[in-house]
Amino acid sequence: MNEQLSERAAAACLRAAVAAPSIHNTQPWRFRFDGAGFDVYTDPKRTLEAIDPQGRAMHISVGAAVCNLRLALAAEGWASRLERTGPDARVTPVARREASPSVRALAGAIARRRTNRDPYDDAPVPVDTVELLQRAAAADGVRLVALDPVRRGAVLALTQAAEAWQRGDPRYLRELATWTTDRGDRPDGVPAHTFGPRPTTAALPVRDFGLTLPAVERDAARFERRPNLVVLHSLGDDSAAWLDAGRALQRVLLTAAVHGLATQPMTQALEVPRLRRLLAAPGGRWYPQMILRIGYGRLVTTGARRPLRDVLLPAGTALPVRSTAFSRAEPVGAGPRYHR
Ligand SMILES: Cc1cc2nc3c(=O)[nH]c(=O)nc-3n(C[C@H](O)[C@H](O)[C@H](O)COP(=O)(O)O)c2cc1C
Repeated sequence: MNEQLSERAAAACLRAAVAAPSIHNTQPWRFRFDGAGFDVYTDPKRTLEAIDPQGRAMHISVGAAVCNLRLALAAEGWASRLERTGPDARVTPVARREASPSVRALAGAIARRRTNRDPYDDAPVPVDTVELLQRAAAADGVRLVALDPVRRGAVLALTQAAEAWQRGDPRYLRELATWTTDRGDRPDGVPAHTFGPRPTTAALPVRDFGLTLPAVERDAARFERRPNLVVLHSLGDDSAAWLDAGRALQRVLLTAAVHGLATQPMTQALEVPRLRRLLAAPGGRWYPQMILRIGYGRLVTTGARRPLRDVLLPAGTALPVRSTAFSRAEPVGAGPRYHR
């Protein structure tokens, strides 16, 4: 590659990366730019020990950031390569290539996408739109299943059970207290202005981010009676599968944003291992990685992000090399993902 990515373009791509969603807005990522490419690392100091001791949700969050980084590079006119060597991922711009209109649309949605914890309309999501989301997930080897009423009932019941279990767990409550905030100046954590209203019935067990901040005033509202839920499953359940699931998640969320859909992860049932096992697809090959509520709602605000200086490692910093079996280069736009 003769031409190099400019400092300005690199900073723009990093800003896109950190706009990704992350569990409890922990932003568990670090980046290093060495002029030729970006190393992307998880940040174990930001692990949520109570709900994510394995780092599954952390890797999903970092996968979402990798998706944004590559889309932003594409919008800057760069095709990129993704590798798993040493750091959790390395993204290298490899050739100048004009972005397609659909890639531009996805990249354009990065700054608009947000987690919407409001009630949605009672309307179903059209089948065509669900198919677009399925295709978005499949691009990263992930299966998106739209739940029929029976499976929706089962997933809501499991989510309710998980939410009840978590509310009784002092470790969960301490962690929630650490990562929710009513301070306007905090650059991470879930801020009070994004908690959404309290549901008037228990039928939709959205996570209650206000549990440990009871003084925060919130309206009560009726949520949709028949929420549209989708579940993302990946083949395999290791750190590589979680990164892929995160990339797929972000592609799904951005596709949803492009089509005017509101989205909210609802992952409590995936955080209690014995409940997560019940969500696994029969046959045991596909593992549930994400539960999403989708629908039509009003525009909402998002949480703050840390400044780039806080997530950027100086070039040349040595981080411990991960012992990983993955060192295959993924060609840009390739179909099948890593073999597991
Ligand atoms: C793996 C993962 C799990 C999440 N679980 C939930 C959840 O159960 N409930 C919820 O309201 N938001 C959930 N979120 C959304 C985050 O709280 C959200 O991304 C973060 O607060 C930043 O806000 P934003 O998405 O509006 O940028 C999850 C996000 C990720 C990546």
